Amino acid sequence: MTGRIVGIGSYLPERIVTNDDLAKIVETSDEWIQERTGIKSRHVSDPLVEKPSMMAGEAAKRALADAGIDGSEIDLIVVSCTTPDLLFPSMACCVQKAVGAEGCGCFDVNSACPGWLAAFNTAQSFIESGNCKKALVVGAECLTNFVDWTDRGSCILFGDGAGAVVLSADETMPKNKFIMHATSVKADCLYCESRMQPKRWEEEGFLDNTYFRMAGRDVFRFAVTEVPKVINELSEKYEFSLDEVDYYILHQANARIIETIAKRLGQDLEKFPMTLFETGNTSTASIPTLLDTMKKDGRLKKGQKIVMSSFGAGLTWAANYFEI
Ligand code: UT7
Repeated sequence: MTGRIVGIGSYLPERIVTNDDLAKIVETSDEWIQERTGIKSRHVSDPLVEKPSMMAGEAAKRALADAGIDGSEIDLIVVSCTTPDLLFPSMACCVQKAVGAEGCGCFDVNSACPGWLAAFNTAQSFIESGNCKKALVVGAECLTNFVDWTDRGSCILFGDGAGAVVLSADETMPKNKFIMHATSVKADCLYCESRMQPKRWEEEGFLDNTYFRMAGRDVFRFAVTEVPKVINELSEKYEFSLDEVDYYILHQANARIIETIAKRLGQDLEKFPMTLFETGNTSTASIPTLLDTMKKDGRLKKGQKIVMSSFGAGLTWAANYFEI
């Protein structure tokens, strides 16, 4: 038994912030942001209302409605979130409450941007080992609470949101195929300290807020090197050809990154759908929200072969191959 995606849902905050809006707070321009990233606008949450737990719960409810399944039928919830509004209980427990899945197993995973792939693979492994039949896999992120709004090199990239899928055990599904990697060698090019990080009062920075820190060029180089490599590794390990893949659903970080990866794989850019123009980088929520967009606009069809791949802090990167 392997899980088939039987429902998809997402939640994007109501407020839209354009590049021109950002140009009022940092020295940047719509032209620069679009040229270097492809991003035109992003959704930014209301911090008091659209918390990660709320967005995760809404996306999960929409995925259940799409599947036509009641929350009570779910026996596992795995949430990926690096910016939770509660350290505990887990975001998965918050989703359980939102969808009425009383009694099911709940936990969170953190693997930064590829975290949703880690959550997906974990849930699939529970299904394949016979430990659950119906799982909710949710990615929710609110990075706009953590970016330094004075740093034009990073604040222009991110948006908030959540996406979810319902997996249902299906004996006709081929086994879930995935590869996950990490390296701590370049950990300092992308990190965010906890706001509760203890500091001695005499230390410089005591009482300073901690923010998301990124060396953009290093992350760019890492992504365009490792993502094509891991996709090639996946195709060799599981013996499928890159040409037979219908869609490459990649982490929505930067259109230039995606274009470079498509070129390095020798694949048509048409196979690389993008939502980042209107969402920015929503970290772990980017792949499930893209899946939801594609389901809604009719691009996703049963039987299609899909590769998903993501990269992020750790550094971590991962790729999956499955049939929809
Ligand atoms: O989930 C993973 C998260 N991270 C990523 O995906 C980040 C990957 N990296 C990137 O997307 C790109 O590196 C960025 C979009 C962040 C930056 O683009 P870049 O082409 O690598 O620019 P750069 O950092 O090399 O900066 C080039 C110039 C610099 O000016 P000087 O030193 O050449 O005078 C920057 O100060 O552009 C300047 N710059 C900006 N100018 C206008 C940096 N940010 C901005 C900005 N607006 N927002």
